[in-house]
Amino acid sequence: MTYGKEIATIYGRVEIKFWHRTTQTEEKMENVFVMEHPLIQHKISQIRDINTGTNEFRKCIEEIAMLMGYEALRDLPLKDVEVETPIETCMSPRIAGKKLAVVPILRAGLGMVNGILALVPSAKVGHIGLYRDPETHEPHEYYCKLPEPIEQRTIIVLDPMLATGGSGSQAVRFIKEHGGRNIKFMCIIAAPEGVERMRKDHPDVQIYVGHIDRCLNENAYICPGVGDAGDRIFGTK
Ligand code: PRP
Ligand code: URA
Repeated sequence: MTYGKEIATIYGRVEIKFWHRTTQTEEKMENVFVMEHPLIQHKISQIRDINTGTNEFRKCIEEIAMLMGYEALRDLPLKDVEVETPIETCMSPRIAGKKLAVVPILRAGLGMVNGILALVPSAKVGHIGLYRDPETHEPHEYYCKLPEPIEQRTIIVLDPMLATGGSGSQAVRFIKEHGGRNIKFMCIIAAPEGVERMRKDHPDVQIYVGHIDRCLNENAYICPGVGDAGDRIFGTK
């Protein structure tokens, strides 16, 4: 299977759609947005580096999340409100409706939260606790707390790594079971397998990804990846 990209300008905005080609088919990856901005790519190289320590790694994860958030939030609804400037009164847009909900997948997703809150400080924060069984690679839930009314919010699920896609898919399923509808998934590094799984399980969810890497290894780690993102963010190894 090979991957490629197609760039189209839509309403003055560059939209990058990734496709994959098998021997028989070529399919556009609808709802997958790969962030090609040089600042994001530069910082991804920093987190890949084995010599990047905990402090810098954590800082980069937060900064990448903020840069990605700028793009992922471009469709937040706006409402015109009256504002008095020093010169006159005018109508000017503000973010409308219930505030955004940011939902990190514990632990590693926590590293991305402050990046999004830097853009939308009033966003509410939910948490979903999942860990991947080291043998089976299946996700196990240990915590779920979401801000109400979840069905009225735009929700961004955060996790730096989308490997098999098991954790991401399960997290989105929980949120849907609690009533969440308008869901986006943001990850920094994805394996092709994880992107496929998310698209298959949740075709309605927009996926924002910093880079799609080559493959998974026998331990379901992303290659070349960054290693264990949670351990690198929290310095637990
Ligand atoms: C990592 C990562 C994702 C998951 C990705 O978490 O942060 O949540 O693995 O793998 P998957 O796509 O195959 O499910 P991990 O389970 O290591 O927990 P941690 O964040 O507590 O380190
Ligand atoms: N979780 C990680 O932290 N890294 C991987 O490469 C895969 C899952």
